[in-house]
Formats: sequence, C-alpha cells, structure tokens
Amino acid sequence: MRIDVLSIFPSYFDGLTLSLLGKARDAGILDLRVRDLRDWTSDRHRTVDDTPYGGGAGMVMKPEPWGLALDEIARPSETPAAERPTIIFPSPAGEVFTQKTARELATREHLVFGCGRYEGIDERVFDYAADLGEVRLISLGDYVLNGGEVATMAMVEAIGRLIPGVVGNPESLVEESHEDGLLEYPSYTKPASWRDHSVPDVLLSGNHAAIDAWRREQQLERTRRRRPDLLPTDQSSAS
Ligand code: ADE
Repeated sequence: MRIDVLSIFPSYFDGLTLSLLGKARDAGILDLRVRDLRDWTSDRHRTVDDTPYGGGAGMVMKPEPWGLALDEIARPSETPAAERPTIIFPSPAGEVFTQKTARELATREHLVFGCGRYEGIDERVFDYAADLGEVRLISLGDYVLNGGEVATMAMVEAIGRLIPGVVGNPESLVEESHEDGLLEYPSYTKPASWRDHSVPDVLLSGNHAAIDAWRREQQLERTRRRRPDLLPTDQSSAS
C-alpha cells in the first residue's frame, strides 16, 4: 500500500519510523511518503493561509498549494491504473473513524491524507480532490485537535497494522477490542500471584473450553459496563 501525507508539520510523522510500521516500511510492505505542503508554495514566506472571506476568526488554508500538491501526488498517472486514490481529510466535521473504517481503508492501494491546520481548508479543495479520487472527511472523535496530524497518525497506525504482513501474528488481530464488536477480554502473565492479586483460576485450569467461555463472558461483561452503546439493544440489558 502507498500512503502519502501532506502536512505543514512533516516532522510530526517521525514516529512512524518506529516499531511495526517502521519495519513494514523497511520491508517495502508500506510505502509511506510524508510531504511538506509548503513545497508547493512559490512566495518568499511559503504562505499556506489567508483570511476568511465573509470575516470571522482565524485563518483558512489557501487552495493553490493544495491543488498543486494533489496534482502531483494524487493524479491518476501517479496511481495504479485500476484504482483512484482515496483522499482523506481529517476533520472534526467528518464521519467518525472506527475499526470498520480502518478495515475498509486497509484494502485500498493508495491513500492520501491532507492535514488541515488553522480554521480549515478552503472548501473548493475538497471539490477539486473529488475529481482525482474518492474524498473522505474523517473525524477521530467528538473533540477538536489543533490540526489533522495527530488524527492522521492514529489512522495510519490503525490502517497500517491491518495490512497483511505488518503484524507478525495475524491471530492477534482477531482477538482484540472492536474486531468482533466487543471489548477484548483481560490478559494476565506470570507470576500467578502478584501483590495479593491472583490470576483467575480458570486460566490456570488447562480447560480450553472453560477458558473460551470465561473470556467471552468477560468480553460481554466489560462491554456492557464500559461501552453499552456497542451492544445490540437486546444484549445490553441482559444479565
Ligand atoms: N482535526 C481537528 N480535530 C479533529 C478531529 N477530532 N478528528 C480529525 N481531525 C481533526
């Protein structure tokens, strides 16, 4: 998979050289390119923002650098013939990102993330981008960040780890929170007793059917308690 990131703070993404995603990049499984939007400005100050038409607080990102950058990064000849890129603009006004979104985006060949700053990006950029690929405005959640960088980092990690070969043991992807619509069960390791806290007996029993049943019940219990919104309505009130 190829992922391009456009940002005025490319060094935010230095962390993506670490850990599993860093290894995936080294192995050629993930082609991640982080680009500085200011490289597509032509004035001495490398300006990317201006005052909003109609007035109001803050500054808006100018369309010209975005247009030039997208022409270079997302135009059809730059992407495999079979698939136009998916162009994602992180935004608190977008659809909410979930594990389902991550699974869907992990099947794409080319993702482009456009990180907005200030009060946002000139709306015409989204219309223009729609001529080049599928445009998605995606929110990390119902709160406001200072820009799209942190949201892009989170999405790239959530999507990247679903690309085959990135996570060494694919089974660990199946047994985690949100993969089956529930929160994951609690995990323990040695020692069996630690500071007067013991590992539940069932996990030491060697009875795999009993362990599976216990883990399933823990998943349901936790989900009911912490995230009842994830359960179908008939399960959230069941005892
Ligand atoms: N930019 C600012 N806030 C955001 C959020 N909640 N999600 C995605 N991008 C954002």
